[in-house]
Amino acid sequence: MSRLLLVTGDPEYDARFRKAVEGRLPGEIQTVFSTSLPATPDELLGRSVGELPTVIVLGPGVDLHVALRLGGIFDIQRPEVSLILVVPADMSLAVAALRAGFRDVLDQDADADEMLGTLSRVLDTAASRRRTLPQGGSFGAGPHEVVAPHRDDSRVIVVTSPKGGVGKTTVATNLAVGLGALAPMNTVIVDLDVQFGDVAAALRLAPEHSLTDAVTGPAVDDALVLKTFLTVHPASIYALCTPANPAEGDLVGAAQITHLIDQLSSQFQYVVIDTAPGMGEHALAALEAATDVIFVTGMDVPGVRGLRKEMDLLGEMALVPENVSVLVNAADRNTGLSVRDIEATIRTTVDHMVPRSRMAAYATNRGVPLILHAPRDKAARQLKSLVDTFSPNHPTAKRGMHRKAMV
Ligand SMILES: Nc1ncnc2c1ncn2[C@@H]1O[C@H](COP(=O)(O)OP(=O)(O)OP(=O)(O)O)[C@@H](O)[C@H]1O
Ligand SMILES: [Mg+2]
Repeated sequence: MSRLLLVTGDPEYDARFRKAVEGRLPGEIQTVFSTSLPATPDELLGRSVGELPTVIVLGPGVDLHVALRLGGIFDIQRPEVSLILVVPADMSLAVAALRAGFRDVLDQDADADEMLGTLSRVLDTAASRRRTLPQGGSFGAGPHEVVAPHRDDSRVIVVTSPKGGVGKTTVATNLAVGLGALAPMNTVIVDLDVQFGDVAAALRLAPEHSLTDAVTGPAVDDALVLKTFLTVHPASIYALCTPANPAEGDLVGAAQITHLIDQLSSQFQYVVIDTAPGMGEHALAALEAATDVIFVTGMDVPGVRGLRKEMDLLGEMALVPENVSVLVNAADRNTGLSVRDIEATIRTTVDHMVPRSRMAAYATNRGVPLILHAPRDKAARQLKSLVDTFSPNHPTAKRGMHRKAMV
């Protein structure tokens, strides 16, 4: 379990730091209230209790010159501990800190989301670094050896529909942020609408890296390197967005997607995948690796018929994941179609009805998922109950039922 150690003389900063991090990052936080820094890493580590910290943040109040020197010594003597320096807005100081061996710097006035983003990035890189350090070697690793976590209880949830514009991205982004509350920093949303993906817009993110970085280069061989290419969203989730250039996205092949999902599912409890309309190679690769699929349709005859065809085809190709649910979105009484009509056409039950809501479009345009923007909205409440079905305690009563109906 990772540990964060904050060294500062400023109780107000301590309170802000804890508010930003507690419950959103795994592990324990300890604060050493002091402005005087010792000369050596071991002296500083001696002031904390318990296991070796993963990350030490030297906060406001410490002497910055002493901090820079100590950062350099840590880098040589204790490379398994990552240091972050909190600095006033001063570029030259930030550069000096990075040169000295600090892993990152935090602006003194950084808000909670910036703090969370920096800390999670440094924690991920620290985990990767510790894995490659010699075991029990000159670093005195002792009880803090880190083994790369590999989970097998992960849920890979694909959101798909035969038709465009029915609400896949709305469902996927709301599901992901909802799961972020159940499993903070343990949920990732992947945009596999490689050409025209809009997860970044729906979550108001400006990603530094995209899908292309994640499926090429060093990320391919190391799931922890891959994690550094993800973008952190304030709802305690990660996102992997599509490249800004649609042509670039098209160069990503199905085998790369299969490998990517394998890597992500070894690291995250929930992998939510948004797809382009229809059954392109990326969606099929995702479905092959999925544990769950959510079929989304609107309340219109062509959409519902299209869904039936998609279900039939996937059944023939044996690409139906273990758990299947059907979500009717933008449901409206005045369409002339009833739930019974839809169920009769698709020959299986409808699991979720998300009503049409004016707030949905507003939330999309604001880049804030509906369940965060207007949690009491009627559509938000249905999306929240979709999230709850993925809670580890929820009985998966419908498992297998749809499959039987579909094949
Ligand atoms: N329940 C709803 N009520 C009203 N509007 C909705 C609802 N769900 C989604 N919308 C709106 O419908 C539009 C399309 O939704 P969204 O982008 O989620 O669909 P999509 O299936 O991902 O589309 P595409 O196939 O183009 O990727 C958005 O403007 C969204 O805000
Ligand atoms: Mg979409």
